[in-house]
Formats: sequence, C-alpha cells, structure tokens
Amino acid sequence: MILITGASGNVGGTVLQKILQHRSDVKAMYRSPADARNSPPKARAVIADFADRDSLRRAFEGVERLFLVCSPIPQLVELEGNAIAVAKEQGVKHIVYSSAGGAGTWEKSFPKWHTEVERVLQSSGVGYSILRPNTFMQNIVAFFAPTIQSQDAFYSSVGNSRASLVDVADIADVAAALLSGNAPDKVYELNGPEALTYAEVAERISRVCGRTVRYVDLPMAEQKKALLAMGMPEWQAQALLDLQEYYVEGNGGELTDDIQQITGHAPRNLNAFLVANAGAFTRRVATA
Ligand SMILES: NC(=O)c1ccc[n+]([C@@H]2O[C@H](COP(=O)([O-])OP(=O)(O)OC[C@H]3O[C@@H](n4cnc5c(N)ncnc54)[C@H](OP(=O)(O)O)[C@@H]3O)[C@@H](O)[C@H]2O)c1
Repeated sequence: MILITGASGNVGGTVLQKILQHRSDVKAMYRSPADARNSPPKARAVIADFADRDSLRRAFEGVERLFLVCSPIPQLVELEGNAIAVAKEQGVKHIVYSSAGGAGTWEKSFPKWHTEVERVLQSSGVGYSILRPNTFMQNIVAFFAPTIQSQDAFYSSVGNSRASLVDVADIADVAAALLSGNAPDKVYELNGPEALTYAEVAERISRVCGRTVRYVDLPMAEQKKALLAMGMPEWQAQALLDLQEYYVEGNGGELTDDIQQITGHAPRNLNAFLVANAGAFTRRVATA
C-alpha cells in the first residue's frame, strides 16, 4: 500500500493523480474531511494531521511506501518529524520526501528546515528518496499572474539571477516512479531544462500572451514592505527574501539529469507550461 500525504496540495495532489494512473493500492491523506470527500474515487481517503501522532498511526496502517510533503511553514521540522517517527513505528519501508533545492547547503529559510527533516529521515532507518526540486513553474501562475493580469508586470528581488524552474508534473513523475519500485536511498536534484532570469521569463510570457509583460526588480526592503502590506506574516516574508538571496548569490541555475534518469523523459520546458496556462495571464481591466 502507498500513502500520499498533502493530497489536497499542489505537489501531493499531482503525485496522487499520477500514481493512480498505474496503481490502485493507494491511500490519500487529507487534513480536512471536506477535502477527503473530494478525493479521487480510486484512492482510499484517510484523514490525519501531522500534529497528531495517533491520527498518523491510523492513517499509516498497512502502508509500505509513503510520499511525504507539508506546507513550507516553520513547524515543518516537528510536523514531518512526527510523520517519520510514526512511519518507522508502523513498519513503513520507504519514504519519498518532498524537500527543496538548496537543502544541504543553504542555511536559511525553507532549505534550512528541509535540511533538518532530511537529517531526521536519513538517520531514521527507514529507506528514503529525497527530492530537491528547484522553484516551481506553477509559482508563476500562483504568485505572478494577478499583477500580470492587472499591470502587465510581475515583481521580485532576484535581479539577473538564474533559476532552473521545474514543472510540478515532473516532480510527480519522479515520485510516482520511486514509489512504485525498489528505490535505493538517494538524493535527487530536480531541475527544469533551462536556467532563466526573470527578464527572460517575462519575454516568454510576452510571446505567449501577445503583449509586453515586464519583470520589475525591487530592492529587497521594498519587496518586504509590499509583502507585509498584502498581509503576509513577517516570518514568511523574511523566508521568501532569504530564499531569493540563495538565487542572487549564484545558486539555483544548475541543470541536472535526475528527471531524465528516473522518468526516461526530458524535464518539461517553460514554453509548454506557459502555453498550457496562457489563460491565467489574460488582461483583466479593473471595473469601477
Ligand atoms: N513552491 C516552490 O517553488 C517550491 C520549490 C521547492 C520546494 N517546495 C516545497 O514543496 C512543498 C510545498 O508543496 P505544495 O506546493 O504542494 O504546498 P501546498 O499546496 O501548500 O500543500 C501542502 C500540503 O500539506 C498539507 N498539510 C499542511 N499542514 C499539515 C498538517 N499539519 N497535517 C497534514 N497535512 C498538512 C496541506 O493540507 P491542507 O490543505 O489541509 O492545508 C497540503 O495538502 C514545501 O515543503 C516547499 O518547501 C516548494
């Protein structure tokens, strides 16, 4: 039996869809009963919270392989630590862990939390595959589409740094392959096929949209002020800036062949992603 945590989320939900194409012995873990009711019918929905070990014991019963993902929050280490401890107790043989690019090297922000979880997992005695994906292409839609729609622009503080943006669909392909076979204990760096600056991303979006979309680089202090004004908590705004610094300092533009090696196909490219999501960038004129 395979269990997919974070099944209501971006990564977990995509892994679930992918694995259900090939397997029927799949449990999908949700926190909320409402999300569980919308689970794909082929999966067995279970309800549990990483903060509640008893709920995890019930959810992990009979599970041999587990996909572990949680929201990038400061409690990540404790929450995912609970999941690893209960998985060990329940005899789970292998965990495919959704970590992040920069884990193992960048001592700040999300990568730092993921590094701590990786260490817990690697010393747990449970078999592991650690996936370290670069920044998701899906972030362009989730975070940049609103101002692209209203201002033909998107904002950040990464300057001319390069990121090998990766499609979550490729993370899901890798995870599904590793969950289905006898994977060795290993760390995978998951990168897209090109290292792009945000100015280059803006050019690609412009081509797909048929109008000029600009990338506007803000000083970090100004971006932080804007994030706080939007209601983002201080810790999250700071974590985002600390992550941007990772790229500004010349990291995150690496190209690796881990996706090709595991899935047998090349990583998906940004052009295809933008064409598939072109509707998200349609100009919206504000109405009075
Ligand atoms: N965005 C990027 O560019 C990027 C790049 C590299 C790595 N990552 C990593 O990818 C992960 C985020 O993936 P995502 O985009 O799929 O996030 P997401 O859409 O926010 O999904 C997070 C999932 O975790 C679940 N969850 C949160 N707290 C929980 C708890 N206490 N108990 C049980 N489940 C809980 C959420 O359930 P609810 O729906 O109930 O909240 C949701 O299903 C993070 O660890 C992040 O660091 C992100």
